[in-house]
Amino acid sequence: MRINYNAQRQIFKLDTESTSYIMIVRRNGYLQHLYYGAYIGDDDLEYMFSDVVNESFSPWAPSADVKYFALDTQPQEYSCNGSGDYRISAFSVETATGNSTTALKYVSHEITDGKKALPGLPAVYADGTPAKTLEITMSDAASGAVVVLSYSILEGFDAIMRSVKVKNTSDKPFFIEKVYSTCVDFNDKDYDLIHLYGTWATERYEERKPLLQGIQEIASKRGSSSHNHNPFVTLCRHNTTEDHGDCYGFALCYSGNFSAKIEVDTFDQTRLMMGINPEDFKWKLCPSEEFTAPEAIMVYSCDGLGGMSRIFHKLIRKHICRGKFRDARRPILINNWEATYFDFTPEKLIAIAEAAAPLGIEMLVLDDGWFGIRNDDSTSIGDWVVNEEKIPGGLGSLTKRLNELGMKFGLWFEPEIVSFDSDLYRAHPDWVLHVPGYDRSVGRGTAVLDLTRKEVVDHVFNTVAGVIRSADISYVKWDFNRNLTEVGSASLPADQQKEVFHRYVLGMYELAERLTSAFPDILFEGCSGGGGRFDCGMFYYFPQIWTSDDTDAFERCKIQYGSSYAYPASCMSCHVSASPNHQTHRAMPFDTRGNVATGGAFGYELDLSVISDEEKALVKEQVERYKDLYKTITEGDNYRLISPFENRNWCAWEYVAEDKSRAVLIYVVTYGKVKGRYHIKFKGLEPDALYRDSRDGRVYCGNTLMNAGINLGNSLCDGHSEVLVFDKVEE
Ligand code: DGJ
Repeated sequence: MRINYNAQRQIFKLDTESTSYIMIVRRNGYLQHLYYGAYIGDDDLEYMFSDVVNESFSPWAPSADVKYFALDTQPQEYSCNGSGDYRISAFSVETATGNSTTALKYVSHEITDGKKALPGLPAVYADGTPAKTLEITMSDAASGAVVVLSYSILEGFDAIMRSVKVKNTSDKPFFIEKVYSTCVDFNDKDYDLIHLYGTWATERYEERKPLLQGIQEIASKRGSSSHNHNPFVTLCRHNTTEDHGDCYGFALCYSGNFSAKIEVDTFDQTRLMMGINPEDFKWKLCPSEEFTAPEAIMVYSCDGLGGMSRIFHKLIRKHICRGKFRDARRPILINNWEATYFDFTPEKLIAIAEAAAPLGIEMLVLDDGWFGIRNDDSTSIGDWVVNEEKIPGGLGSLTKRLNELGMKFGLWFEPEIVSFDSDLYRAHPDWVLHVPGYDRSVGRGTAVLDLTRKEVVDHVFNTVAGVIRSADISYVKWDFNRNLTEVGSASLPADQQKEVFHRYVLGMYELAERLTSAFPDILFEGCSGGGGRFDCGMFYYFPQIWTSDDTDAFERCKIQYGSSYAYPASCMSCHVSASPNHQTHRAMPFDTRGNVATGGAFGYELDLSVISDEEKALVKEQVERYKDLYKTITEGDNYRLISPFENRNWCAWEYVAEDKSRAVLIYVVTYGKVKGRYHIKFKGLEPDALYRDSRDGRVYCGNTLMNAGINLGNSLCDGHSEVLVFDKVEE
């Protein structure tokens, strides 16, 4: 790992373990991108530029001191708007002149050890791991905008973390119109674009399509990263597979409106940018003020999509997730939501806990409906006062009974939201996002609190913290069940209203930071109607997120498989629920529901007090098995084997312990083949080691399992599944 600057040629070169990233300052200060990909030596790559002349229609900059130097046809490191490059641009400011022409030129740079935190924003942290940072200062002389492009690398990771800081060095305010966090130019267009799309209960389905001429965008303008499109995209070669080929992954450490924009230009070059969505964004920067854009993580791997995913998994697990539960095993829980919905009593909850405790389940989570007068989803969010009619004696009496059973207690909140029918809203109708003169759109009976306002953040912190302190609470589920509308704030002037989307996210991060640091022993789980805000930004605060409200095992195969392109199993909260499933009405064997949920942070979400003794025995087995396997699943290397997006009959994936001492393979038959063949090959084992199949004790060579594979049977029916465990035989 190193960052090198060739002063004579003004070339910057970042080398991670096996990748290189190169930029050059040319033609009186233009910073141009030269290379990103597999590691290369320190050759002078300036020969790579071809000065395509298109004189009239790609005008050139006279200050470049050379004729025909057209920004439009040349790779740029961080493209600006309006000064000759007609492609999508990463940065522009509107000045007092009313214009948006922006032109950044190199000023200076600094290479330092370590990696800085970003003010108020989640980001990869080094935590003792050697790191290096390059900061390149650029200036737009006319507007006084000084832009610092920051690049950090971490020992052991083929990843580059980029962010951008803008400072107003002029004596007048200007407006940042767009400030993407990363921008990379590729010199060809022969890539597929992979992204993760979906909707509520169908999050993070994979889509892979070749790039097309023109502009494509993967984005959210819902105020959160969204169920619909995830802030993670991949460019890979058309022939890249799980195990082979180039791929570039881009993830944004941000939970609000984002944009990943890709353009293939008429010279068949590709530009990819990722950052805050410029739509509905405009940030007033007064003299000497600074603005920091969120961090983008870029990963290159020549070991296919699987290689890329494993880099993201480890980086997110070890350098984004924080706190005690980054490494500790998370308690196995039973959540009452799908067991009772709003219709619970302490007796019912205790009956569930009494059934759960002897089966090894460690915590009961009381979901929505414990506060205010909330017996359905129409009221009371924001009134974080225990409903003593429903829970006589309050949370204290409930937790006392749970503790007697040896169980911990977790509680649901929706801190960012307020019901229109609530005391909080009646007292402070201006505390919600709204625009005077327009209807306040209703989402699940609620509005979104205006977290751009300090007094609102303080109020939510105090009320939520008060409840947490009032009882023995070990876990908090932080839900967020609507998207933002009428995004205005009563506390900001007209020329700052377009800051509200981003200020909201900053307020939400501040609230999350305050609550998680006030209660370091509490496990916080994120949720947004399932996985509506499942991104690297949220994982900085919450080490796990409820992956989806769809708990159907077949659906979860796709959702969890799709999520695994970027996100590790440790971050995916997965529960066994009832059959027929409440979302899809599909019936599914108990063991398959358990097998699929085993691929994440494990728990249950059904009425355990009414299931049969046989099912209880299965729960006990599943819980014991998970306690044995969780380390391999949550800390091991994840290999995708058979994709549910490409194969209707079955799917499979595998986890291999870091020291290769154990492999856990999960497969699920989704549409059984008549007398079909189910044959599978393992990945990632130690080739010369011996591995024992825990089912029958048979021992295989690692290379046999990987190259010849094993047969799983011929007449496996719909819904059949297994968790196979192969342990290395110690000699
Ligand atoms: C949406 C969540 O995803 C569910 O798990 C549950 O907590 C409900 N909200 C409660 O309203």
